[in-house]
Amino acid sequence: MYVCVCNAISDRRVRAVIDDGAATVGQVYRACGSQPQCGRCRTTICDMLGRDRAPAMSIAMQPGMAMAGGD
Ligand code: FES
Repeated sequence: MYVCVCNAISDRRVRAVIDDGAATVGQVYRACGSQPQCGRCRTTICDMLGRDRAPAMSIAMQPGMAMAGGD
């Protein structure tokens, strides 16, 4: 079954790169020699990694960061 249709990455391939040490969505893409296109596969890859979120693909607010328009 394809996990990532855009890059034709199968669940077997994702499992293999995770077994080889990929720990983030970004590492999975890199290990597969591809990069995210539409991003719809991210949730499935996260689930396969056993994580709720993939830090390498998100930008999180850090302590001390100001919100736009804030005082
Ligand atoms: S389905 Fe993976 S990037 Fe589109």
